[in-house]
Amino acid sequence: MFYKFSFFLIFFLCTCVQPMAHAQTRVPSQKSAPAGNSKVEALLKKMTLQEKIGQLTLYTTDWESTGPTIRDGYKNDIRSGACGALFNSHTVPFTRELQRIAIEETRLKIPLLFGYDVIHGYKTIFPIPLGEAASWDLTAIEKSARVAAKEASSAGLHWTFAPMVDVARDPRWGRVMEGAGEDTYLGCRIAEARVRGIQGKGIGNTDAVLACVKHYAAYGAAIGGRDYNTVDMSERFLREYYLPPYKAAIDAGARTVMASFNDYDGVPATGNKFLLDQILRKEWKFKGFVVSDYTGIAEMVNHGVVANDKEAGELALQAGVDMDMQSAIYQRFTAQSLREGKISLQQIDDAVRRILSLKFELGLFDDPYKFSDQARYDATILSAENRAAARDVAKRSIVLLQNKGNVLPLSKNTKIALIGPLAENKSELIGNWCGAGSGSDCVSVREGLQLAGYNQVAFAKACEIADHDESGFKAALEVAQHADVLVVVLGERADMSGEAASRSNIKLPGVQENLLKALKSSGKPIVVILMNGRPLDLSEIVNDADAILEAWWLGTETGNALADVISGAYNPSGKLPMSFPKSVGQIPVYYNYKSTGRPYDPNSKWTSKYIDEQNNPLFPFGFGLSYTTFEYGEIQCDNPVFKKGTPVQLRVNVRNTGKYDGEEVVQLYIRDVTASVTRPVRELKAFKKIKIPQGGNETISFSLTDADFSFYKKNMQFGSEAGKFEIYIGGSALASRKLSIEMKP
Ligand code: NOJ
Repeated sequence: MFYKFSFFLIFFLCTCVQPMAHAQTRVPSQKSAPAGNSKVEALLKKMTLQEKIGQLTLYTTDWESTGPTIRDGYKNDIRSGACGALFNSHTVPFTRELQRIAIEETRLKIPLLFGYDVIHGYKTIFPIPLGEAASWDLTAIEKSARVAAKEASSAGLHWTFAPMVDVARDPRWGRVMEGAGEDTYLGCRIAEARVRGIQGKGIGNTDAVLACVKHYAAYGAAIGGRDYNTVDMSERFLREYYLPPYKAAIDAGARTVMASFNDYDGVPATGNKFLLDQILRKEWKFKGFVVSDYTGIAEMVNHGVVANDKEAGELALQAGVDMDMQSAIYQRFTAQSLREGKISLQQIDDAVRRILSLKFELGLFDDPYKFSDQARYDATILSAENRAAARDVAKRSIVLLQNKGNVLPLSKNTKIALIGPLAENKSELIGNWCGAGSGSDCVSVREGLQLAGYNQVAFAKACEIADHDESGFKAALEVAQHADVLVVVLGERADMSGEAASRSNIKLPGVQENLLKALKSSGKPIVVILMNGRPLDLSEIVNDADAILEAWWLGTETGNALADVISGAYNPSGKLPMSFPKSVGQIPVYYNYKSTGRPYDPNSKWTSKYIDEQNNPLFPFGFGLSYTTFEYGEIQCDNPVFKKGTPVQLRVNVRNTGKYDGEEVVQLYIRDVTASVTRPVRELKAFKKIKIPQGGNETISFSLTDADFSFYKKNMQFGSEAGKFEIYIGGSALASRKLSIEMKP
């Protein structure tokens, strides 16, 4: 994890770089926008410049797997008021001890703010966010964030660095695992659900923590999918596809924002006034505080837009970064920059106000220890209720990609050969960004099958995830001989996705494809379970497997959730939140592409295509099978010719024509046929997840408003344009039911 590296960095910073740590220059405060509440203003008046700068400073603790430690450097920073917030600081005893220093040993007794990356669970680990997104179940996603917030807050945390809402179209990028995938609309709805879950009934409640929307902005568009890389896109593209999820999260109440590492239009986001001031504060009226990403301020020197750390601090503060994560640049240079007139006291005060306001709102001035509650921790952490929620979300996140011959579900008396490097593994199941989770709390696939009552399960590991040793294949083939079905659990290592984990080859690592080919020679039906943090190139796997379950990293309840699906106790209902490519050369491949002047025609050379690969992905966005089948009726519309501004009422009947009760995600896409700028061939505008009993049917209604038909027009005004639209409704981005409608001016 990155914070292990931070141990060395912060050691350096703490030992070498504290020139201002004990300065107590009292500077008169000026009242300035944003007008804080009276308590904030009163406190601000008492603060020295150094104490103010301390509130703008965030350090990581050097928490390690063996437990927390507090070095003298930290204690001194807290005591001198040089640091107002800490991250990777959690558990009741640790946060109480840190807070005690702030409250009992500092002049102004300003409580510390404790943050942590609680991305998909604190101790009870839920599926990775990309996996949860595959559930398209906003209630389940909100619940997951709620449980995470309850657990985290009981451990003394006030703030999580989530949700990550970066739209991402490139599966090579390791951080796709943290987000909601490629689509803006789905991303917005999931961003809102996560914020609602994280902040619960509101900041100030002991079970609610501050959300931090990240990474603002467009971090998911790193060129080539290489982490930390440059982003280059038009403002139209930025506003249309990348910004809406951040805005949705802020509109849902998220109180903090993290600036991203990348540059946008030649300026690092951390120093980008257009993003942080013009859009975030002026257009969106964001009132919370902005934190940099880890050493993001210092990195502006490497970006080459400032000559040194001091200038980096000035650029960041002027742009609107209130809190410096880990660079210690505000700590080291802000006073000097102020003396030189490079920044103003008002800029410092405004940043301090924003941070103090949230500390007040959290209730930390009334009770600084209110979140560090051992009794609540003991009752909450990994409770049966939380585990049940994790199992529920996990089973909803699984996507059935293929089921030739209806090999799944498997009856309980099936003789199973359970094979593969992840078949009884526990440590990888919590995936990357796994909070304080532990593999030892996980239910493995092997355990899950046993608990579900599969009594004839023989096991062979066959190979490791990523090495090249095939000597275990023989034993696996032996086990396969005696089985009815082979259940083969394959995937990436958890650390192959996440931060700084981009891959140029997105096939299964090591010899896993070879293993599958060897097993195919047994002639037995093969069910592949995949565990991975990104869309993979499955072009070989689809040929060798009969059934494929995409299981991402499902977290603590992995084995139970998979057994629910394998047995048919739960009929899979997940749908892909990102397209799965046919090959790495197709990337980026996404459903809402533009037509171009020469739309793809497989039979015509002179169209937009590759000469050696088709344009369509292996599995499209929105795709996922069920053990049952659904049939869509014709789209009905009350007002196919409608006046601009009038809602369009649409209906479709969906029939369950298979042998099981099932859930379907009914997806509605539009196409603006002619507009002042080119429009995507399809855009998701609505979806509903419904349960239909076997043989039953349901009529689903959608109402599209003017906002759904709106986009950034030629003049960059957001609005709709009269003309023809096509509506598509179905079970994936390839939905085939179509209706033409027309908007009149
Ligand atoms: C860097 C990551 O980019 C960010 O997502 C995370 O919140 C911080 N490190 C803190 O761990």
